[in-house]
Amino acid sequence: MEYDVIIIGSGPGGYTGAIRCAQLGLKTAIIEKYATLGGTCLNVGCIPSKALLDSSEHFYNAAHTFAEHGIKLTDLQVDLDQMIKRKQEVVDVTTKGISFLMKKNKIDTFYGVGSFVDPHSIKIAKSDGSEETIKGKNIVIATGSKPMSFPSMPIDKKRVITSTEALKLQEIPKHLVVIGAGVIGAELGSVYARLGSKVSFVEFADSMIPTMDKTLGKELQKVVKKLGADFYFSHKVTKVENTGDEVVVSIDKPKGRGDEPEQITLTADYCLVSVGRRAYTDGLNLEAAGLTADDRGRIDVDNHLRTSVPHIYALGDVIRGAMLAHKAEEEGTFIAETIVGQKPHIHYKLIPGVVYTWPEVASVGYTEEEVKQENIPYKVGSFPFKALGRARASMDIDGLVKVLAHKETDEILGVHMIGARAADMIAEAVTAMEFRASAEDVSRMSHAHPTYTEAFKEACLAATDNRAINM
Ligand code: FAD
Ligand code: NAI
Repeated sequence: MEYDVIIIGSGPGGYTGAIRCAQLGLKTAIIEKYATLGGTCLNVGCIPSKALLDSSEHFYNAAHTFAEHGIKLTDLQVDLDQMIKRKQEVVDVTTKGISFLMKKNKIDTFYGVGSFVDPHSIKIAKSDGSEETIKGKNIVIATGSKPMSFPSMPIDKKRVITSTEALKLQEIPKHLVVIGAGVIGAELGSVYARLGSKVSFVEFADSMIPTMDKTLGKELQKVVKKLGADFYFSHKVTKVENTGDEVVVSIDKPKGRGDEPEQITLTADYCLVSVGRRAYTDGLNLEAAGLTADDRGRIDVDNHLRTSVPHIYALGDVIRGAMLAHKAEEEGTFIAETIVGQKPHIHYKLIPGVVYTWPEVASVGYTEEEVKQENIPYKVGSFPFKALGRARASMDIDGLVKVLAHKETDEILGVHMIGARAADMIAEAVTAMEFRASAEDVSRMSHAHPTYTEAFKEACLAATDNRAINM
């Protein structure tokens, strides 16, 4: 069978690309090695983590904020089995939805491990031991990523776990050590802290979510600390050992100026290793296509997402750039449109990043650290959530919106938020920046009152001419 396009991997990049190819009239096949479609995001990533974040947030509010709203509850308990069951139901409905979309768009779906036989032929090794080879004029590698670890922290999936196991624990840890206070650490650490675990974060950098604007990490730390978490920043893990019923994590603080080196041992029942993810190309037999992966396992692509073999493309977590579902989706669409000769475009600087803690963290464009580093003249406007009527009404007063604008032109360069519904609010900042709005442009647009979005308008007013109204 010869296809116009064969896509290996059915994550957000692969399935979105397949649908766009089919919409454009290309005969398309998709290959997935697991039994369900949707990749990391739908099966063990975005969707299940958000389901548990929402459930744990409901519990936390019922236990800690309902009374102040005048709602009394007694004998509140967590039914973890039910929480995990509901999460799985959400995943099942969502992944079945992708199968439906493949059928609806007449995309042939093959289940099995795809590997190159030659630059145009892909062998599919199926779970029943049979094999089938299909040919494609164009091939898209969309094989995603896997959790990363280091030799000092060997994953055993029992007590030393990755995000995949943390999404289906059978008990609430008494003490959870989280190595890496990045996005996964912040989200899944929050889930268990809300459910009553003592959570200790060990982080190599000096703050949470260190790659985002520094203001966000500091604010996030304050809110996660309120959940009872503790933090070991600038600490290095030297050993993680599963002793049977427990896990022992040895950490050091390297000697700084005037400091004594600090050596600490944390004893916990689980240790979540969330130190990043690694591009996944195992089993693809890239050599048969004349391709290689770099030292981080990634496939090199040009600005058209073409590999060194022009009819083979790659996207998403398996190539450079942010490891985000919506980045992979944009790239899937981009490749489909490129194949039919269109001239699509992705503005990588305007791909937003979101952390689904509560309050949520969301960011787009330059961070303050980046504008400083690139010597771009800038000004800052910030507005705290506690000055918003809407935030006081809902008791969501933690957080702020920070807008960076060009000092001379007033064009918005970056927007960084932590606050209620920031994940949805960031879309307004993306739209404004796509249209190259100035801070004054946004500050002159009517924002419904009372809404959280007023914080963005007020921060833009502050950035324009220090003229926030409610502060
Ligand atoms: P993937 O989703 O990883 O899909 C790749 C697919 O390829 C997999 O199904 C794999 O089985 C298949 N595959 C691999 N090799 C082969 C082969 N040889 N043959 C056949 N099939 C193969 N991102 C967000 O934007 N928002 C979030 O809220 C978010 N939350 C996350 C939470 C967690 C816990 C994790 C781990 C990740 C999260 N991410 C989130 C990141 C997001 O999941 C990834 O960026 C996204 O899934 C990448 O999409 P992809 O299409 O590149 O690859
Ligand atoms: P990450 O890159 O966000 O965070 C890893 C953290 O581990 C960093 O802060 C890093 O400094 C730290 N670290 C690295 N080595 C360490 C060590 N030896 N000791 C202590 N700390 C160490 O990676 P994470 O959280 O694993 O997530 C992987 C990817 O998944 C991210 O790139 C993210 O984009 C994606 N993701 C996205 C989500 C979202 O969009 N909401 C949610 C979850 C994951």
